[in-house]
Amino acid sequence: MTRSPSSGSLPFPPGNLGLPLIGETVSFLRDPDFADKRHKRYGDIFKTRLFGSPTVYLSGAEAVRFVLLNEDRYFVNRWPPSTSMLLGPASLAVQKGSEHQQRRKLLAQAFQPRVLASYIPTMVAMTQHYCDRWEQQGSLTWYPELRNYTLDIACKLIVGITDGSRTSFGEWFGSWVGGLFSVPLPFPWTNFGQALRSRQLLLHEIERIIKDRQSQPDMGQDALGLLIQAKDEEGNCLSIEELKDQILTLLFAGHETLTSAIATFCLKVAQYPTVLTKLRIEQAQFQPDQPLTLESLKQMEYLEQVLKEVLRILPPVGGGFREVIQPCEIKGYTIPKGWSVLYEIGRTHQDSQIYPNPKEFDPERFAPTGGTDKVKPFSYVPFGGGIRECLGKEFARLEMKIFAALLLRNYEWTLLPDQNLDFVMVPTPRPTDGLKVQFRPIPTGQRTNDQ
Ligand code: HEM
Repeated sequence: MTRSPSSGSLPFPPGNLGLPLIGETVSFLRDPDFADKRHKRYGDIFKTRLFGSPTVYLSGAEAVRFVLLNEDRYFVNRWPPSTSMLLGPASLAVQKGSEHQQRRKLLAQAFQPRVLASYIPTMVAMTQHYCDRWEQQGSLTWYPELRNYTLDIACKLIVGITDGSRTSFGEWFGSWVGGLFSVPLPFPWTNFGQALRSRQLLLHEIERIIKDRQSQPDMGQDALGLLIQAKDEEGNCLSIEELKDQILTLLFAGHETLTSAIATFCLKVAQYPTVLTKLRIEQAQFQPDQPLTLESLKQMEYLEQVLKEVLRILPPVGGGFREVIQPCEIKGYTIPKGWSVLYEIGRTHQDSQIYPNPKEFDPERFAPTGGTDKVKPFSYVPFGGGIRECLGKEFARLEMKIFAALLLRNYEWTLLPDQNLDFVMVPTPRPTDGLKVQFRPIPTGQRTNDQ
């Protein structure tokens, strides 16, 4: 069904390109049901025009596989203009071809198992710190807090900044993220214009941190320290200009996505008491005073299933854009060179052939005996796949597990009434009203690991 063109006589996919240039970009940015509506009308594959480019939406394991395994052959990375300008030309997410592969190897040094293990004490301490804070607040709007939490961890482990969310750094970061998926009009009053200004401020601060670090005898063991010292195959280090873009990319990638994932976890666990009970029983098997390690986290198999289901049902990254560099055929349609494709993660995870009752939150589908995600390669792709698969996948899984384990052991939370629990989808899914909860410690004597 997916291949290079044979006859050249196949039609383009159905759909509406909309207005010249702007196409359907405004609806894409504003309407959470943008893709659903068009899929209902046109079927599995449709065309539209986004950010100036005719764009084909593709979903399903086979189409996703075709896109992800043909990087540099039929497709190259293409972000919307606002995103690539704000990420910067030296960002790994924007780099292509051999440069991308070389840089990826180098950056991967910050995510090796040995390095990940060294991040655990900081993740644990910061989770505990935030839990104490939420306990004092009692009832709170959780999403902004979760965002500060993941930003603080990212700032600490990636660049060594403490309390990043409460500094100007956090403020600039928020405004920069606000422009990532926007119409790229660089005026002081537009989201994009403000984000560009924040990018300059962030880069300036990152440069200051890099220079400060370079002047010290010990470069530090965070991601920045490793990247300053890292060398490519020819023995070259990263330039300051590149380091700045790469660090900004890691901060972004390592924070918005994770916030979305842990917020979905908190919501689903509050809505599914039987899942919560099973999770707590599993946690009771671990000694509360034993430090969390890669090994003990690995043993939390049911938690693993729940987190997998969280990323299936509401993947933080809805899909990925690519540019077509050689015409190809997909599902009986031709896609010309120069167009974009958007491979859809969320819809691929809703395939009822692979995931019966796909709208239902059901961690049992990932039980070791079920093996659902192994049925068909590329039917489960929360982290993408192929040569651009998420670089921070293991970092993300580690942080999600530590957060979940510590919360489950010591705290309970209930959803407050009268709130909208629907999700806003762009740039990453988040609850419309910010997830309002009552948060409290489980009384001593009632914790699952109290004898
Ligand atoms: C639950 C959390 C996360 C999810 C769901 C997620 C998802 C993804 C996805 C789907 C892609 C591929 C996009 C594409 O194909 O165009 C990606 C790429 C990437 N992610 Fe993540 N991510 C997460 C967390 C992280 C973290 C914690 C980091 C780093 C600290 C990170 C760093 C990156 C980078 C650098 C790339 C670009 C890789 C490349 O182009 O070679 N991500 N992520």
